[in-house]
Amino acid sequence: MSDSDPSLLKASALAPWRSPLARALHRNRSKPYSRYCQLATVTAVGRPANRTVVFRGWLPDTNTFTLVTDRRSAKVADIAAHPWAEACWYFTHTREQFRLGGPIQVITSADSADSSLASIRQTAWEGLSANARQQFYWPHPAQPRSAEADFLSQSGGETAPKTFCLVLLSPQQVDHLELRGNPQNRTRYTQPNGDDWLVTAVNP
Ligand SMILES: Cc1cc2nc3c(=O)[nH]c(=O)nc-3n(C[C@H](O)[C@H](O)[C@H](O)COP(=O)(O)O)c2cc1C
Repeated sequence: MSDSDPSLLKASALAPWRSPLARALHRNRSKPYSRYCQLATVTAVGRPANRTVVFRGWLPDTNTFTLVTDRRSAKVADIAAHPWAEACWYFTHTREQFRLGGPIQVITSADSADSSLASIRQTAWEGLSANARQQFYWPHPAQPRSAEADFLSQSGGETAPKTFCLVLLSPQQVDHLELRGNPQNRTRYTQPNGDDWLVTAVNP
């Protein structure tokens, strides 16, 4: 198993930023892109890297954000080098931004010895559409595209392929900016002593 940050799987009470975020997801639900956010990582050589990902829900009974990715993608190597990331989410209808920073972990097929990790990875696989599953059988991401490349012949069965990873991000600092209103509102959520959340209204 990869080095695990216990905070990622720890059952915990709903963090205070979860209800404004749930409200934003609900109020922006008519826009399918409300479930897309940007995930920033740091590469092995210390450069920022950023990309859009789909929010796949919260790990049950935790404040851990989940997404899925391909093991061969660059972000997996980034996370191995620097297991901390920030997700940035903008909700266009309500005009608010959430930035969620914290430890991040990739669960791969190599984590199969840990039954709880294997089971949450398998559940995430089962939750994917056929189209989303098929991408995990595509040729290696970011390699030069060959005319003979096969994108169609394989599709997902019930068992997750080795390329499939579940990624867990457990926010330890959250910044919520609401553009509506004059002045705007900005709220910071931090955990100065580890567990308890401190909520501070700050200048926008
Ligand atoms: C709307 C949208 C949603 C995406 N969702 C995901 C996703 O959930 N997981 C993922 O790994 N890549 C997703 N991608 C592709 C990534 O943005 C990125 O191109 C890919 O993961 C390779 O990134 P990397 O080389 O930095 O690892 C999405 C792209 C778009 C435009």
